[in-house]
Amino acid sequence: MQITVISGSPKGELSVTLQSVRYMEKKFPEHVWHYVHVGQTIRSIEEKTEKQGEIAELVRASDLVLFAQPVYTFTIPSQLKRFMELLFKVDLGRAFSGKYAAVLTTSINFFDHAAHAYMRATLEDLGMRFAGAFSADSYDLLQEKERLRLEAFAGDMLETVGRRRPVTRAFAPLVHKAWNYKSGEASPALDVQGKKVLIIQDRRYPAENAGAMADRMVARFPGADRLVLEEISMAGGCLGCVQCGFDHQCVYAGKDDFIAAYEERIKTADILFFVMKVEDRMFSALWKTFFDRGFYNTHTPTLRGKQLGFLVSGPLGQMGPFREVLTAFTEWQGAGLVDMVTDECCEAPLLDALLDTLAERAVEAWERGFVSPATFLGKGGMKVFRDDVFGRHRFVFQADHTWFEANGIYDFPQDDKRAMETNAFMFDVMKDPGTKEAIRKMLKSEMVKPIRKVVDRLP
Ligand SMILES: Cc1cc2nc3c(=O)[nH]c(=O)nc-3n(C[C@H](O)[C@H](O)[C@H](O)COP(=O)(O)O)c2cc1C
Repeated sequence: MQITVISGSPKGELSVTLQSVRYMEKKFPEHVWHYVHVGQTIRSIEEKTEKQGEIAELVRASDLVLFAQPVYTFTIPSQLKRFMELLFKVDLGRAFSGKYAAVLTTSINFFDHAAHAYMRATLEDLGMRFAGAFSADSYDLLQEKERLRLEAFAGDMLETVGRRRPVTRAFAPLVHKAWNYKSGEASPALDVQGKKVLIIQDRRYPAENAGAMADRMVARFPGADRLVLEEISMAGGCLGCVQCGFDHQCVYAGKDDFIAAYEERIKTADILFFVMKVEDRMFSALWKTFFDRGFYNTHTPTLRGKQLGFLVSGPLGQMGPFREVLTAFTEWQGAGLVDMVTDECCEAPLLDALLDTLAERAVEAWERGFVSPATFLGKGGMKVFRDDVFGRHRFVFQADHTWFEANGIYDFPQDDKRAMETNAFMFDVMKDPGTKEAIRKMLKSEMVKPIRKVVDRLP
């Protein structure tokens, strides 16, 4: 069997993920494994049609295409995102259609499921047959148990392809109606009382809905700062070197505009509107570059207490996983999610009203200082980081460690004295079977008692 491996890590041969593929190759030497370092060579793939031709030829001759990449900031690295976009834009994509595909990631299991959902949905959109996915922890290969698990996965994946088994489709195709949004009469400008409003977009999108949506928002906030990513210099995507872990210093410092923009325009803003257009099943690779490059702050939130709104052109309503990524990003940041407005309503007056409402509610939320409590997405995510930074990666992420200590992120081991004393007392009294039975019956009423008191205190 011929296998093409699309390696999405910017680290090329030094990729941790790649080692799992090499391991599979050694375990299944009867197959021929070809490697394309997309993460490392995306620029030349973008620019050179002959490179695209070589990849197409390789894929055409292959029975399976294995996408192997790290998880980067809630999903896949920007370099691979760009490659996925190219598959839909240039001839290259046709070679992938009808082929079996599989996905392998390494990560610390923070939103690995979102990366997998994106990849599966996008590969299915390309007409590929999904033969399986494997999400390994970065260090799994060090353990015999996990090596056996990887081997079992590879065995199953290769059986599927070898026997040309039918596979299921997990994500329905997108249905999207294109229409031309023309904003109506402008609403009055909003008084933001000195607050800093930032409208950030990847491109200007002239004559496109995303551009018109951004323009309407700008009209409500005449003093807003408008940051267009395409118009600042970004020397490249995140290289994954993690040198920022010690002190939040990026290797790109002084080499392009990104860090200055992040420090001076993003960190200082109070209300931020992110404008984007859906490309395949997510925002653009340029937006992804922004999020990956923002990793110079590693696991330390930078948007705490700010208000965030999203303006999205495209079928976000059909993309649960993408919506979840935007929500999770906001929650984990400790920011307020005002709303996400899309152009799916296909009606200009309604879209005008939705955008106006978003603008007004963002200002009101700032005035109230309202940030919704994080759900599992934000809370669970922070706990994954907490364990990782406290434990095995403390030396690498020293800047996070200092911040986590100072900001109460290390809420373990539990040191709540009252809870510990109550637990000790209850364990003791419940040694008596009669008391245990009596307490069992009282649990429901006793649990609500102190909470009820708060309500009952009110007139
Ligand atoms: C910029 C950047 C962002 C990352 N974001 C995530 C993330 O969102 N979730 C996660 O579980 N791991 C994340 N990681 C950790 C990597 O996924 C992990 O180290 C992976 O094993 C690296 O694989 P590679 O060496 O093949 O690139 C991130 C690492 C970097 C450098």
